[in-house]
Amino acid sequence: MNESNDASPMHTLNPSEQTPQDIYKLLVGSVVPRPIAFVSSMDAKGVRNLAPFSFFTVASANPPIVCFCPMVRGVGSSNLPSSKDTLRNIIATREFVVNIVSEEFAEKMNACSAELPPEVDEFEVSGLTPLASELVRPPRVAESHVQMECRLEQIVHVSAEPLGGSLVLGEVLRFHVRESLLENFRIDPEKLHAIGRMAGSTYARTTDRFEMMRPK
Ligand SMILES: Cc1cc2nc3c(=O)[nH]c(=O)nc-3n(C[C@H](O)[C@H](O)[C@H](O)COP(=O)(O)O)c2cc1C
Repeated sequence: MNESNDASPMHTLNPSEQTPQDIYKLLVGSVVPRPIAFVSSMDAKGVRNLAPFSFFTVASANPPIVCFCPMVRGVGSSNLPSSKDTLRNIIATREFVVNIVSEEFAEKMNACSAELPPEVDEFEVSGLTPLASELVRPPRVAESHVQMECRLEQIVHVSAEPLGGSLVLGEVLRFHVRESLLENFRIDPEKLHAIGRMAGSTYARTTDRFEMMRPK
């Protein structure tokens, strides 16, 4: 493994002296690569919604809980409500599906990240295929190789400021995994082809991997 030989001095920053936009850049440039939850949800009237969220991880395996963070839209970033449709839908209906994003449909995923009004159905915008879920109303994304039907467990409203956000925790009620990827509960990363988000418009592939055993 290559050791870093960059001994240039550290630049220390106090977040309270910086703009939220610059702090956002520091965070998304440092916490990399981030997996992407492609979240389908529905409003109370049944309008479908689909949006990617890279502030996403696992909170517990027992019970299985995943979490992601819809942020508060920045001031003047659009004429849309400051809270994302996904968050408002989940507050209203308490259900969502997390679909894992593979490189094959990355561009369609990206199309769903456009700042679109609540009445727009991103399945139609992207051309992705809705697939009925078993236990929740929002459909799955048929193109995704791993889909998790979730019931809202808890929302932590962390900050209502622009670029603030909420932590949405959901219990996975059903996993759906493409059979060709699954062997003894292991998911083949070569076939999953998941992508991760870096800063800005940069993404990472998961095709360059290495092994390292944990000490006993
Ligand atoms: C790869 C990717 C990851 C994103 N991650 C987040 C995120 O973690 N939190 C967030 O608030 N917005 C994130 N966005 C932006 C949202 O997808 C975008 O605001 C979307 O329009 C929200 O949709 P909604 O209002 O229908 O919920 C991301 C966009 C992309 C392309």
